[in-house]
Amino acid sequence: MKFRRQTILPLQRSARPQSSLTHFVALLAFALIVQATLFGTSAAAAAKKIIFDTDPGSDDAMALMLALNSPELDVRAITVVPGNVTASQGLENALKMVSLAQRCDIPVAAGAQHPLFQKLITAEFWHGKNGLANVELPASKCEVDARFGPDLIIQLIHASPHEITLVPVGPLTNIALAVLKDPSIVPLVKDVIIMGGSIKGGNVNASAEANIYNDPEAAQIVFQAGWTVTMVGLDVGDKTLLTHQYLDELGKMHGPVNDFIHSVAAYLIDLSAQFNSPGTPMYDPLAVGVAIDATLVKAPEMHVDVETRGEFTRGETVANRQGYVERNVLRGDRYVIEGADKVVPNAKVCTEVDAARFLKLFVSRIQGK
Ligand code: BDR
Ligand code: CA
Repeated sequence: MKFRRQTILPLQRSARPQSSLTHFVALLAFALIVQATLFGTSAAAAAKKIIFDTDPGSDDAMALMLALNSPELDVRAITVVPGNVTASQGLENALKMVSLAQRCDIPVAAGAQHPLFQKLITAEFWHGKNGLANVELPASKCEVDARFGPDLIIQLIHASPHEITLVPVGPLTNIALAVLKDPSIVPLVKDVIIMGGSIKGGNVNASAEANIYNDPEAAQIVFQAGWTVTMVGLDVGDKTLLTHQYLDELGKMHGPVNDFIHSVAAYLIDLSAQFNSPGTPMYDPLAVGVAIDATLVKAPEMHVDVETRGEFTRGETVANRQGYVERNVLRGDRYVIEGADKVVPNAKVCTEVDAARFLKLFVSRIQGK
């Protein structure tokens, strides 16, 4: 191994007697290099602290299990938001899942009960009547955390300034409430990686993606908060299809989490087949994937606004892909274009993904768990 030769030879060649301190320092350096090489990590590569905000939800379930089984991530809290299911069903699902994963140490908190300014739209049609692909998990052994989700988010950010990455994979209600209550959290957050939005049309209708459509005002607050949002949108998620090939890989091994995710994925793959797709898009898991390894995607910077008023476009994420807007100035009875002003980016918008690498990563983290 290259580092050994480089490290040991100078010691061997040295003609001069060395002090015990020099020996100690050399040995320490050697031990650290061996450790880093053998375990592929160094002290600097500590796990990334994340808060997972979720409306669980079948792909939320896959995302949560990916996060809980990835050494790169340290899940500090799970906050529940209504979306795919009601707030109470979502809380029950989250508690059952952390129990299944034997992670009662992670606080699970309830959050908002409804979107900021509109009625809740639930999605049992896609996620099964309990939101978890109709898989009945055992009762949870974990207790709910008494704190209100947005308050817990605020508390944890202040407790670990510049260390927390928010990973919201449902409507952005809880995150917006946290920002509204305490805007001082914005510069203290390390990253915000959302599953939501699209720059190529929606899944609710022609323009809007579900998480944004289910609370557009909250989404606009989050995009304009002053941090940079990494947007893992529908259009890039659609490139990550979990197919029968990957399902078969999961089926080769067993374990409570493995078997749960296998059942959820089988349900979703069957559902996708009814819509002529060979696999199920891994929307929420991909957001976790990007938290694990940002090199899985290409994400150019853009300015994104959320449409809150359009007759056909409420909930659309409107991304400026050219980086400027025309400056139109009123001259007499008409406007005249007098230049183009640069826009300040507020988002990294995922446009490409290494889907095969991500799907392999997902399967490898779940297998046998
Ligand atoms: C998003 O909507 C939900 O149904 C999924 O859980 C995902 O977060 C995809 O549009
Ligand atoms: Ca979700």
